[in-house]
Amino acid sequence: MYTVRQAAPQDLAGVRAVARRFGNLAQWPRRPDYLDRELANGRLLAGFAGAEPVGFGATFLRGGLTHLADLFVLPEHQSAGLGRALLARLLPADAPRVTFASSDPRAVALYIRQGMRPVCPLLYLRGPLAALPDRGIDAVPVAAGEVAALDTDAAGGRRDADLAWYAALPGVSVHRTGDGYAVVRSLGDRVLLGPAGGQTTRACADAVLAALVRHRSVGTAALSVLGPNPLLPLLLEAGFTIADMDVFLSSGGDPIALDRYLPHPDLG
Ligand SMILES: CC(C)(COP(=O)(O)OP(=O)(O)OC[C@H]1O[C@@H](n2cnc3c(N)ncnc32)[C@H](O)[C@@H]1OP(=O)(O)O)[C@@H](O)C(=O)NCCC(=O)NCCS
Repeated sequence: MYTVRQAAPQDLAGVRAVARRFGNLAQWPRRPDYLDRELANGRLLAGFAGAEPVGFGATFLRGGLTHLADLFVLPEHQSAGLGRALLARLLPADAPRVTFASSDPRAVALYIRQGMRPVCPLLYLRGPLAALPDRGIDAVPVAAGEVAALDTDAAGGRRDADLAWYAALPGVSVHRTGDGYAVVRSLGDRVLLGPAGGQTTRACADAVLAALVRHRSVGTAALSVLGPNPLLPLLLEAGFTIADMDVFLSSGGDPIALDRYLPHPDLG
């Protein structure tokens, strides 16, 4: 009843329509967006009912680590096997893999049955920049290449091309604070922070705070923080609120530094 294949450029409008139904493009005001990147990387699969895409899934690679970035099926086609079929084609057998799962029990169950285990919550925070502490550290703007090694260490694998692609988008700036880094995108009324990290928990927190303080005039920020990160209470004390929550799942071996890495919500 459903067919699954690598998405082609002519499928992207249909895939985009599915993504929009789930609000996935809210952080991507203009093209190119992360779906363009998934297509260009050749890791975007579409599921069809007849000629129309009714679901899709995609991954980003960080060295040998696969980040499952998307798995979506239109509500009228859910629970009929398409999600499982997409996942089976997307994930390499026995290779390290991670993802952020929604609270949909079908998603969590599929990922666990594909060899991943729930590790901790991932909280999507939003809040005002005004009350954040200024630790007097400068977040120096740098080229993406200058933070690639720090990102590799914190995020669990190298992704120079994806990082450079994101850094070249309008409004995106990359910042370094010695042993920490933070990528920030200005979206008009808010900034989106991520990926960000550091060689130590402290270096990660310093980089995140310094990059946010630098964008204070924008007013509001959004960022994704894993449960063990000590930035969580600090941000909540400063007036940030939890806008949404996912579960971080991993196939094991702690590929991501949970206490010193803040992912990008879509790029991982
Ligand atoms: C999650 C999603 C992609 C799954 O796709 P789908 O086509 O609906 O799922 P499938 O029918 O292929 O598989 C669902 C599986 O979950 C199982 N399942 C359903 N409810 C379950 C529950 N409460 N507990 C455990 N397993 C459950 C089903 O039995 C099925 O497995 P089976 O085919 O072996 O019987 C789809 O439902 C979706 O788009 N949900 C909304 C968006 C979303 O949250 N996406 C996930 C982002 S991380």
